[in-house]
Amino acid sequence: MTRIVRTVADLRSVVAQWHDSGDRVAVVPTMGALHDGHMALVQAARDMAERVIVSVFVNPKQFNDANDLAKYPRDEEADFKRLSAGGADLMYAPDAGEIYPDGFVTKVSVSGLSEGLCGAHRPGHFDGVATVVAKLLLQTRADVALFGEKDYQQLAIIRRLVRDLDIEVEVVGVSTVREPDGLALSSRNVRLGENARKIAPSLAAALMTAARNIEAGQEVSQAIAEARQAVLAAGYAEVEYLELRDSDTLERVSKLTKPARLLVAAWLDGVRLIDNVALTPEAKPPMSRPNVDGK
Ligand code: PAJ
Repeated sequence: MTRIVRTVADLRSVVAQWHDSGDRVAVVPTMGALHDGHMALVQAARDMAERVIVSVFVNPKQFNDANDLAKYPRDEEADFKRLSAGGADLMYAPDAGEIYPDGFVTKVSVSGLSEGLCGAHRPGHFDGVATVVAKLLLQTRADVALFGEKDYQQLAIIRRLVRDLDIEVEVVGVSTVREPDGLALSSRNVRLGENARKIAPSLAAALMTAARNIEAGQEVSQAIAEARQAVLAAGYAEVEYLELRDSDTLERVSKLTKPARLLVAAWLDGVRLIDNVALTPEAKPPMSRPNVDGK
């Protein structure tokens, strides 16, 4: 049975009991409006730990746009039902005052990694994410925390934050869950109009095409220019960024020599969508081996 907890004190006492009985505890931080992408994280968490906490908190500090915060979908009852069906043990749903009590002034900021890509277009966003995730990890004292690769820059920032602050948690990234037409699942997809919803998958399609072309040897800048064109031609209003970055450091990459990630943010129907795909450099031809079996 899933239970709801709303305070840090109650959360701590439940987790302490679990740890005392030797259970491994996983946490899946979310902002609610749960969909199958979130539920894939919950399933992965169940595979890795005896106890699964899902936090549901629409974090005001990570919204640089008041309108986006106001329009963010909220449905706690539906979330609770999904989590019960999905086998989560605990839904942690604090209110804003519990997370940011009067006088709260601390900010966690992961410099460098937070600056380009989404960080360049959403001032303060990743400081808000890093601050709330640091708090959630410390409050839950989870042994493992799961995040989606859908938000790839966020995942990289959280890995660094955990390392830099010596937080004792294993960070696990989970592959992006997509609709059958390729569109990455997102809580913001419900805001797309009927026509926009039809256009939306062209973003993932353009990314995949560019990724395969780069892997096949096409010039990176050329592949990116073509992808950008394809997204705009499909009906997107604006491409905020479309860049190839190193998978680990997120540094800019102009040639595919190491695992890389092609990342995009684009606007459609007043909604900002993000996506990314993995690229691997062509496997080297096997080295000629001495003939060991004597034939
Ligand atoms: P939210 O957007 O609700 O996402 C919660 C988690 O679900 C994140 O780790 C995100 O990467 C993952 N996720 C979302 N869509 C996914 C998909 N299609 N496939 C796989 N995973 C997906 O990300 C946040 O909330 C917040 O920034 C948070 C980390 C909770 C901090 O407030």
